[in-house]
Amino acid sequence: MLRVRYAIPSLLAILVFHTADAALSSGKNTARAVHAAAAAQHSTARARFPHGEQHHIYRKNVSAAEAWTPCHPDAYPPGAWVSRSGGKHGASSFGSHLYGTAKAQRFIWAHQHPRNCTAAKFLLYPPSPSGIGSILHHMGQALALAIQLNRVMVVAYSPDFPYYSKARCGVEVSFEACYFEPLSSCSWSDALDGVARRNMPSINSPSQVTDNNTKTVQFSGAFTAPDYHCQDDSVPPQLHALLRGGPIDWAKRHYWWRAQSVAYIVRPNSRTLAELAARKRRIYPGRLIRRSTLSVHVRHGDKHTETPPVPDQAYLARANEAISLVWQPRKTGKKGDSGIRRPSIFLSTEDPATVKIFTRQPQWDVSFTNVPRKPDANRSTLAYVAEIGGDEEMLNSLVNLDLALECDAWIGTLSSNWCRLIDELRATVRCKAHGTYLDAEQENPPQDLNW
Ligand SMILES: *[C@@H]1O[C@H](CO)[C@@H](O)[C@H](O)[C@H]1NC(C)=O
Ligand SMILES: *[C@@H]1O[C@H](CO)[C@@H](O)[C@H](O)[C@H]1NC(C)=O
Ligand SMILES: *[C@@H]1O[C@H](CO)[C@@H](O)[C@H](O)[C@H]1NC(C)=O
Ligand SMILES: *[C@@H]1O[C@H](CO)[C@@H](O)[C@H](O)[C@H]1NC(C)=O
Repeated sequence: MLRVRYAIPSLLAILVFHTADAALSSGKNTARAVHAAAAAQHSTARARFPHGEQHHIYRKNVSAAEAWTPCHPDAYPPGAWVSRSGGKHGASSFGSHLYGTAKAQRFIWAHQHPRNCTAAKFLLYPPSPSGIGSILHHMGQALALAIQLNRVMVVAYSPDFPYYSKARCGVEVSFEACYFEPLSSCSWSDALDGVARRNMPSINSPSQVTDNNTKTVQFSGAFTAPDYHCQDDSVPPQLHALLRGGPIDWAKRHYWWRAQSVAYIVRPNSRTLAELAARKRRIYPGRLIRRSTLSVHVRHGDKHTETPPVPDQAYLARANEAISLVWQPRKTGKKGDSGIRRPSIFLSTEDPATVKIFTRQPQWDVSFTNVPRKPDANRSTLAYVAEIGGDEEMLNSLVNLDLALECDAWIGTLSSNWCRLIDELRATVRCKAHGTYLDAEQENPPQDLNW
């Protein structure tokens, strides 16, 4: 097999791809020109970041040593969704994660596992029905609020929640605990014990808690803008000193917290892990993610109701940019190589038309899972979820997520909760903070991080 190494432009990580000369021929001339123009920049980047690219929420002026935080799966609290294959970049066996990840994960764990649930104070959080990525991000913000208030967050039991299935989850199990490790050692019944629900204060910001001695407060309504939009409170104040001391751009701290909160929430339990493994064999048969596969997530469906749709061509352009910028054949000295592969894309999307378009691209080896998609953009995600089944949708989504996280570079749109989720998990518990992320709808590195 021909081994090919790619030069590293300022935006792109060192990626070692296995590929074919034939696959490269179309982009080669452009690639040469780009390489010539960017050569100096490349070598600067390579010298500064020998392991790859620093994550887009880091300050511009951090040193390579600061930008590289070695990652090890054993540093996380129990149940973290690690990959034992590691996030291999350069010489490190487990890659790097965002600054502060291990400390933040252990801090959240300790907060959510108080010694005595009878003595604890609570924030009861009833999630609103939405897409899965959106639910997880809102829950993460509720967790920030709970931590700020020194309250344990518990998720309220809601049997009619779209991703809840009585058959799968049983009764008296909150929907997230159906799929994930419990968020807390305390349960919602601890939170409700001796508390009259009608007397429980409803809050959506810290100022609404007038008595800190109240055992349980309930989150209600929506987060107010100051809680989200890059305000101090978007990150629990207990973690500000940690963040201030590191390489994360303070203006992007909310993204760091979103990454930490979802890395904590999305810890599939052993039953889910077994189901995901079995399901992967069924919906992605006979395949695995090869080293240096590019993950492309195309968010179509009903997203156009929130932001203008990003056409397939924009994603393809980024993928081809990755080829023409990054890929540079290097002689291996081996003779008679023939079983050479095209570069790989793992595609996830709800849009069947997108799958068709990508699979017609001769230069890419495109794979995807065999799951129900959502062709009608005028139909809401939740209408499809009702038809497909909430637990089916959840488990299929998690298989797609896991496969995307096994990739080594990512293309998406940060306006999409799902794309952010991929970017957040790869850069935390998946130890791939130094992989390349390219946004399909904005300049890179991306500046618009969506609240
Ligand atoms: C990097 O820039 C920030 C402001 O953007 C500044 O506060 C900090 O001191 C700089 N750090 C270094 C190491 O130059
Ligand atoms: C837990 O807290 C409750 C209420 O403050 C107290 O009565 C109980 O003794 C505590 N239990 C332990 C094991 O500390
Ligand atoms: C409640 O606790 C928070 C966080 O410790 C504090 O900022 C706030 O002032 C307290 N509120 C009251 C009414 O005591
Ligand atoms: C969605 O609705 C718009 C206008 O209501 C219509 O033009 C479009 O064809 C519809 N799309 C689909 C996929 O049905």
